[in-house]
Amino acid sequence: MSALDRALTIEDLKRIARRRVPKQFFDYIDSGAYTEGTYRANEDDFRKITFRQRVAVNLENRNLGSTILGQPVSLPIAIAPVGSTGMTDADGEIKAARAAEKFGVPFTLSTMGICSIEDIAENTTKPFWFQLYVMRDRDFIYRLIDRAKAAKCSALVLTMDLQILGQRHKDLRNGLTAPPKFTPKFVAEMMLKPGWAMRMLGTKRHTFRNIAGHVSDAVNLASLTEWTRTQFDLTLNWTDIAWIKKRFGGPVIVKGILDKDDAQLAIDNGADAIVVSNHGGRQLDGAPSSIRVLPEIVDAVGHKTEVLMDGGIRSGQDLLKALALGAKGALVGRIMAFGLGAGGEAGVARALEIVRKETDTTMALMGERDIRNIGLHNIYSNDLERRQGY
Ligand code: FNR
Repeated sequence: MSALDRALTIEDLKRIARRRVPKQFFDYIDSGAYTEGTYRANEDDFRKITFRQRVAVNLENRNLGSTILGQPVSLPIAIAPVGSTGMTDADGEIKAARAAEKFGVPFTLSTMGICSIEDIAENTTKPFWFQLYVMRDRDFIYRLIDRAKAAKCSALVLTMDLQILGQRHKDLRNGLTAPPKFTPKFVAEMMLKPGWAMRMLGTKRHTFRNIAGHVSDAVNLASLTEWTRTQFDLTLNWTDIAWIKKRFGGPVIVKGILDKDDAQLAIDNGADAIVVSNHGGRQLDGAPSSIRVLPEIVDAVGHKTEVLMDGGIRSGQDLLKALALGAKGALVGRIMAFGLGAGGEAGVARALEIVRKETDTTMALMGERDIRNIGLHNIYSNDLERRQGY
């Protein structure tokens, strides 16, 4: 039995990934901005919600399938856009996209993916989502949107919470780069992670292939703050949703909403769905967890649009809590990344399977047969009510 088969939780996969992935790339995943307070709160706040247990309910023929933006999903989740996934494991985005496709959920490719839009299109058969960062160079953005359209991406995920980069101390201390610099420290590290190194030698995909050719110095992740400062459009505003949507011609999901007023503005300006998100605790440190603000955002716009959420989901139980509080589905970032680091495509498949099983058992023990019926009646009045200071 392999270590992967023995893994029972996402935490197990995280431990295996830590052993297999070079430190600078593992730390890149397992980090948040500044004190990492929001990163931790995303996980911790799920523990404050408790389930209502119901018994003696017929549990035959259970259903975990749902829809997101009208598309059927085998479980109401999607893989979140995660930059540099191809540094966690060689061709990581392709592996994760394949695992998601087989599992029956959408995969989102980041603008900052190592594999390109075309790489994913060539190696999968079902439509995927593309995540867009808006940069100053509009011609380049037009081309990116056109490429996503040509690749038949079924949705564009417009990330609005990263015009400026939150600082992650670990990345600066590790001198993170993509491709990695062959310092003596890194070479020693490679000797300890030979599998990772061999697989990396076997691929040509080592840098940000969506933007390759556009900016020659975009290879250094540690200088990303500077690069972001020069490239990302600080004037991004709500009216940009309209032209992006027009150019793409398909649904636009606005990601990075953490406030009910912003949720309303996103909808007023044409968002087809929103993702309640604090970027996995990587941007505004000190912001509330996503699960904490979800209820008030669902109250404000849930009747008008699909509210998705991400941040801190590590189990099927967490997913059910998000659904109970009104999310139509959830994006999962680190679940995918830890699975990928632990075992490539099979590791992502294992991660998704773990979450599916946890969801199924937990739902049944709550006395529910259909995931689409999960709602506020499944949890005790939540302790997360936010007292606003203004
Ligand atoms: C991210 N996230 C992210 N979001 C985005 O819109 N574009 C991106 O390129 C990235 N890159 C990225 C890298 C890494 C290593 C992480 C962990 C996250 C944020 C991501 O889409 C999502 O919002 C969070 O990962 C959700 O939190 P969990 O599921 O990781 O707790």
